[in-house]
Amino acid sequence: MINKGYDDSFIERLKFNNDIISTIGKYVTLNQKGKTHWGNCPFHSEKTPSFAVNGMEQFYHCFGCGESGDVIRFIEKIENVDFMTAIKILADAAGMEVPSFVGDDNVKEKKEKKDLLVKANKDAAIYYNKMLYTEKGKDALNYLTGRGLNKEAINKFGLGASIDWLDMVNYMKRLGYNEQTLQEAGLADKGEKGGFYDIMAERIMFPIINSFGEVIGFSARAIKDGKFAKYRNTAQTLVFDKSKVVYGIDLLKKLKRAENFDEVIIVEGQMDTIAMHNAGFSNTVACMGTALTKYHAKELKRFTDKIIVSFDGDTAGQKATFRSLEILEEENLKVYVISLPEKLDPDEFIKNYGKEAYQKLLDEALPLNDYKLKAIASEFDLDDNIERIKFIDKALEEIRLLKSINEREIYLKQLSEKTRVDVNTLQRDLEYKIFTSSQTQNSGQGVEEQPKAKDASFRSEEFILASILHKKPYAELLDKNIFKNSSHNKLYEFILKSQNLGKEIKIGDVFIAFDTQKDEGIKDIINYNFDAINNTEKYFRECVKNLQLEVLLKKQQDIIAQIQNTDVKEQKILLMQKLSELTKQINIQKKTN
Ligand code: CTP
Ligand code: MN
Repeated sequence: MINKGYDDSFIERLKFNNDIISTIGKYVTLNQKGKTHWGNCPFHSEKTPSFAVNGMEQFYHCFGCGESGDVIRFIEKIENVDFMTAIKILADAAGMEVPSFVGDDNVKEKKEKKDLLVKANKDAAIYYNKMLYTEKGKDALNYLTGRGLNKEAINKFGLGASIDWLDMVNYMKRLGYNEQTLQEAGLADKGEKGGFYDIMAERIMFPIINSFGEVIGFSARAIKDGKFAKYRNTAQTLVFDKSKVVYGIDLLKKLKRAENFDEVIIVEGQMDTIAMHNAGFSNTVACMGTALTKYHAKELKRFTDKIIVSFDGDTAGQKATFRSLEILEEENLKVYVISLPEKLDPDEFIKNYGKEAYQKLLDEALPLNDYKLKAIASEFDLDDNIERIKFIDKALEEIRLLKSINEREIYLKQLSEKTRVDVNTLQRDLEYKIFTSSQTQNSGQGVEEQPKAKDASFRSEEFILASILHKKPYAELLDKNIFKNSSHNKLYEFILKSQNLGKEIKIGDVFIAFDTQKDEGIKDIINYNFDAINNTEKYFRECVKNLQLEVLLKKQQDIIAQIQNTDVKEQKILLMQKLSELTKQINIQKKTN
């Protein structure tokens, strides 16, 4: 059978020759305890091991960040490559020939196209960098020098200059690139007269490099402030998406290898990043002026669990920014905020006050919630009673959203100090707020928008499947596939099929048969946490009974509906008999539960 473009038997041999323990062992120090090997997770930052590798089942799972997969997925993640490249790396390691890709031609074409666009961007970056040191590039170089950048800084970030509208296009054509490629790479566009031109002309070029060291696009700053937008960025291409890019992530990755750092500083732009590196804060990256997304958060989470946000003085207090910072928290990053005075950005602040002063701000960075409370307070005059009441209301609204009781208590105390209102009074106000908001949430509208909680039958299905897949001794196959959830149904089909072929499935096999990145249902079963359940054997029996009971109840419903819909007397009698049979069965089933 063909899966993801390769023959099953090839994948099987590939995995057999690249045992998961020894492959992962090359990247992570593993210690064996019982059947499981443990190590510090390479995909998030941690100090005590929660990354488990199971040799028997040929899969890994991190109890900290939830990442899991087989040996191929591991290589994809750790080397930051796609499936085909991971296959190639593993085949190389095992001295195997990779058979030709037979699956989806689109996948192969897309991969080749991506490689080409990355190569074009890199060649353009090299060209732009060279231009800085030519006669034509003098103004651009002077501009950079004027902003305090020496040659070392320029080359560390691969900066360059696009001088006029045709030079880069002509150069790239000489290297063999055609116009279509230049356009698809986001480098050139068709002008009114039909010729292709460099869309970034007359700008300083900042190559945007991903964590794999690939140039995927550019941000370009006008050399002279004037009629055009100060910055232009590569439009969305097959390889570039501004909302996902962390500027400086490649340097951060290199830094992580050289030395450990506890926290990562995030700023808004390229010039800020470079100024921070120049001042010795080389654990700095930027989000290119956009709101933070979960992609930024996930990328950062690979290197740290503490982020210090150092946005421009006028942005950090804005509502949109709060939301953007909450996204970091949602990915379990600890978020601290620096407030810069006088609407300065980090670059300007360091120029005006020096790096020691910046270090002081770093040391005084506030946890996000403290910062929020402070920012909200600054909107009100707390000596005025009416304003103070408004402030309390707004602050309690934020405190209400905090996850834990501890956190709420801490911020209630702060609020009490700030407003000189007794903490118990605030507590009562908060409880009232929580109560009224839960009332409005439960009344009709909006309810559907909430993610659905897993209901009892869903949870039963999950537990049964997880037990079977993880080969728990009590887990028996059901005599029928009665799983209602479609992911569960598919997974059970897969298990049955392998069983029929007399094949013992390993959990590692599931990653090939399904796209576990997209299919959360299947992923949750692979990552199932059995610790939360007391008597697993008993619970398994109960879950099976539950599902069987549901099947019977559904049948009962159907028969009742049929009875209501028929006018034929004989049929009605027949159906009534069936119904009473079924009801007996249901009662028995209920009793034995
Ligand atoms: N940006 C953008 N498009 C704009 C303005 C800004 O994409 N029209 C992005 C750029 O990535 C820029 C970042 O937002 O680096 C921050 O913008 P801004 O604060 O306006 O510029 P600075 O970083 O201060 O740049 P400079 O110091 O060169 O003026
Ligand atoms: Mn600036």
